[in-house]
Amino acid sequence: MFASVVLLSVAVLLMLLLLQTHRAKNFPPGPRPIPIFGNLLQLNLENPIADLERLAKRYGNIYSIFIGPRPMVVISGLQALKEALVNKADDFSGRPKGIMVTDAVIMKAHAPGVVLADYSPHWREQRRFGLMTLRNFGMGKQSMEQRILGEIHYVVKLLEQSVGKTTNPHLLFHNAASNVICQVLFARQFNYEDEFMKFFVGLFHETSKLINGRWGMIYDSFPLVRNLPLPFQRAFKLFKSAHEKRLEMLAENKKTRVPGEPRHFIDCYLDELDKRGGDNSSFSEDQLCAFLLDLHFAGTDTTANTTLTAFLYLMNYPLIQERCQHEIDKVLDGKDQASYEDRHQMPYVQAVIHEIQRVADTVPLSVFHCTTNDTELMGYSIPKGTIIIPNLSSVLHEEGQWKSPHEFNPENFLNEKGEFVKPLAFMPFSAGPRVCLGEGLARMELFLFVVTLLRKFKFIWPEDAGQPDYTPVFGTTQTPKPYWMNIQLRSTFVR
Ligand code: HEM
Ligand SMILES: *[C@@H]1O[C@H](CO)[C@@H](O)[C@H](O)[C@H]1NC(C)=O
Ligand SMILES: *[C@@H]1O[C@H](CO)[C@@H](O)[C@H](O)[C@H]1NC(C)=O
Ligand SMILES: *[C@@H]1O[C@H](CO)[C@@H](O)[C@H](O)[C@H]1NC(C)=O
Ligand SMILES: *[C@@H]1O[C@H](CO)[C@@H](O)[C@H](O)[C@H]1NC(C)=O
Repeated sequence: MFASVVLLSVAVLLMLLLLQTHRAKNFPPGPRPIPIFGNLLQLNLENPIADLERLAKRYGNIYSIFIGPRPMVVISGLQALKEALVNKADDFSGRPKGIMVTDAVIMKAHAPGVVLADYSPHWREQRRFGLMTLRNFGMGKQSMEQRILGEIHYVVKLLEQSVGKTTNPHLLFHNAASNVICQVLFARQFNYEDEFMKFFVGLFHETSKLINGRWGMIYDSFPLVRNLPLPFQRAFKLFKSAHEKRLEMLAENKKTRVPGEPRHFIDCYLDELDKRGGDNSSFSEDQLCAFLLDLHFAGTDTTANTTLTAFLYLMNYPLIQERCQHEIDKVLDGKDQASYEDRHQMPYVQAVIHEIQRVADTVPLSVFHCTTNDTELMGYSIPKGTIIIPNLSSVLHEEGQWKSPHEFNPENFLNEKGEFVKPLAFMPFSAGPRVCLGEGLARMELFLFVVTLLRKFKFIWPEDAGQPDYTPVFGTTQTPKPYWMNIQLRSTFVR
């Protein structure tokens, strides 16, 4: 008797689970999910890219998979992505809830921040403030440009010590990108050995490994295991201490703050908080800390790894490097330092930097979106709450959109007259209302970095380094494999 009750309940449970993971009518195609696991067992959890590639080949531009019981839809190609992210932005601009990143970041900060915030009036208000403040002169006396140039100056000094030697640029570029953000957020220039810096650089690497790896997937798929003492708890602990460190820094900062005379992002935010704070405002100190973490996180690896890609290609395409240097020498002749305005006189350098961003493909699958309503896309029905994965990588290499989709070639961004042009398919920052909030800052940073360093140095692929390997290492952000570079001072540079 007892046995048959158990059997019956198991059968009913299985039926329910089967129904739950069933692909609804007109839902995008994909491999058949099994109960509880979805398609999880069909994926290599440490690096699912090859498996997903197989699925993309088989099922086309819009396909679905189940991570545990949750459906995800991967969208590829310019047409479908534009339709979703831009034309149907209101339906496709949410962020998934109840997955590890969101839980770790939002719960530990007691505020949603921006990157992972719901598509809501609060998000919009915070984002608008962020965009305004990050504009070139949004932060008091010292412009964004000066802050970036100050950091580059420091990098130049460090590189000078490596002239004639072989050096590994990974950490240097990483610290530089992190420092630029710190300049903007707190107007502090950290020593590269600083404990605070080390803590955050370490935090990013460790938590992204935890979130992207096997344990992140397990957390996302099985709500029941979330409170168990499994490795993902470490990420939660790290985020908690990151939040505490921010609060400490905030308290420190308040001691020297003069209201109405902002020195950096924090001061600007506190001024705004004075104006708008109140019960129903999206502005709060917790939110400020969450915002800081977001900007620091979103702005460090992305820019650093794009810069790494830049020099990998510049070294291995010496003619392109030289042509950039000619243009830079011509335009900057007699000037002390580069300015972001100079880009209008440098179509070739602009084309090269954009081409680097295209091949760098730094955030291949963007940040995941989520549908905010039942909706349709290219004839498929997609219910509310479906995780949406924008395949930006597909657009950056899409045939028909580029002169040379599969090769490194600055001509992709030049017209017949040699003028700089930007094809629609250039979307490394994504598109629509969720487009990267730091795009302006990132572009300014990349331009000033590349121009200043190429003006001063010649970068040479070491003779004994063998063939370069352009295959990026998989991650939320992609990066080239570690490499070394030789540096020479350029004789034409006088100062
Ligand atoms: C080369 C450098 C960068 C690349 C390739 C990049 C790329 C991206 C991408 C693909 C997204 C997701 C957009 C979406 O959800 O559809 C994003 C979001 C975001 N990025 Fe960047 N990013 C870069 C640099 C930066 C920098 C320097 C900052 C900070 C100052 C930043 C701050 C943000 C923020 C706050 C978001 C979330 C926007 C929102 O959800 O409303 N990014 N970025
Ligand atoms: C993204 O698109 C590219 C090119 O179409 C494809 O090779 C890749 O497998 C896609 N990625 C995913 C996760 O579907
Ligand atoms: C609080 O603000 C949000 C958005 O700004 C609004 O949707 C909501 O109705 C407000 N609630 C109250 C109680 O005023
Ligand atoms: C969701 O979609 C339905 C049908 O298209 C529409 O009537 C409704 O207003 C939408 N809801 C929201 C919150 O946008
Ligand atoms: C970005 O580059 C750094 C090295 O500079 C690397 O440690 C990190 O893992 C890269 N990001 C990802 C997730 O690929």
